[in-house]
Amino acid sequence: MEHLLTTKRLESFVKHRADEAQSLVKDVWAKAQKAQIVNLREILGAFSMNNVTRMLLGKQYFGLESAGPQEAMEFMHVTHELFWLLGLIYLGDYLPLWRWIDPYGCEKKMRDVEKRIDDFHMRIIEEHRNKKGKNNNIDDDEGEMDFVDVLLSLPGEDEGDGNGKQHMDDVEIKALIQDMIAAATDTSAVTNEWAMAEVIKHPRVLKKIQEELDIVVGSDRMVTESDLIHLKYLRCVVRETFRMHPAGPFLIPHESTSDTHINGYYIPAKTRVFINTHGLGRNTKIWDNIDEFRPERHLPNDDITRVEISHGLDFKILPFSAGKRKCPGAPLGVKLVLMALARLFHCYDWSPPDGVRPEDIETNEVYGMTMPKAEPLMAVAKPRLPAHLYH
Ligand code: HEM
Repeated sequence: MEHLLTTKRLESFVKHRADEAQSLVKDVWAKAQKAQIVNLREILGAFSMNNVTRMLLGKQYFGLESAGPQEAMEFMHVTHELFWLLGLIYLGDYLPLWRWIDPYGCEKKMRDVEKRIDDFHMRIIEEHRNKKGKNNNIDDDEGEMDFVDVLLSLPGEDEGDGNGKQHMDDVEIKALIQDMIAAATDTSAVTNEWAMAEVIKHPRVLKKIQEELDIVVGSDRMVTESDLIHLKYLRCVVRETFRMHPAGPFLIPHESTSDTHINGYYIPAKTRVFINTHGLGRNTKIWDNIDEFRPERHLPNDDITRVEISHGLDFKILPFSAGKRKCPGAPLGVKLVLMALARLFHCYDWSPPDGVRPEDIETNEVYGMTMPKAEPLMAVAKPRLPAHLYH
């Protein structure tokens, strides 16, 4: 992770991210021209997936330069199955006999998904090896290397005999890449869909976001990454989204390493620990009117303090966890979320489809490893900037 998620490497993908932000705007433009309803789950999913796969695998899966519809569909399909399996509360984790009997065919499904994902990653690794064979001077400083290139170039770990392996094993590379895809795509797409849903449900908030964008960015250019730090109100909108709809409602399960006491409770070593971030955001000792979407509650009292989107100093929200195992992709996650929202709100006015009132937009949640909205968000977009900016 130290090699992959450095500031320098994230900077090297700035152009890809700008391309994807423009594609996002263009996708909506095409629908708006034909007066079609926009399926925000679909377009935000493609935005996250493309950003992540371009950085990790050097491939775009949706859009003009995509790797091809069949490969993209296969990849999306198997990734969705994997997320579903990861979200299961699986009895076999506690009762080995259950795994053996496998009454609902879960073990079989897991093995099947494992094999398909393994084949997929093996193909990607082979493609990278072939590319490297043909073009030996891939130059890291030029920002040409995607994450698979980097992992292929790193030495393996020392196994205790003082001799590190010359290269990482394929199985280690595949595990790291899969871990990242799972951690990076769904989290940012789910957060974006929730933020859009809450903002369209509250036209007052949409108006305030657009007023801020018009002051900071104006109406003769698109939002760029350097604007994001100045969008204080939008940052509060993202914080409020994380308070009400944290992408990881229980983070990732951890295990305590030693006996400890917390608030008078004795917690033995090796206890499985779940952090209930969903409960934290609705804790009435910390927040008032917990069911009200009110970004203003996060505005600092002065003009200088920056609006922190990760936990900040107060630990009142924990969207990326905290401490040693906190999300190493948080700076990138924050960029992806802010950029998609800033572009979509700057470029378009949003409303629910005909016949639906904003306040009727449903906000039912589905629990799993991430916590998406139950129904995909559908909305109507009306361009609000000069036409030439959209192309
Ligand atoms: C809005 C976006 C995101 C959210 C809300 C999010 C949240 C989280 C959370 C809650 C964890 C678990 C921390 C724990 O163990 O308690 C985590 C882990 C992780 N995240 Fe993120 N994340 C986001 C985006 C990203 C991105 C863009 C990347 C990488 C490019 C990434 C890479 C990772 C990795 C590698 C882990 C560690 C998994 C492990 O420990 O094995 N995340 N993230």
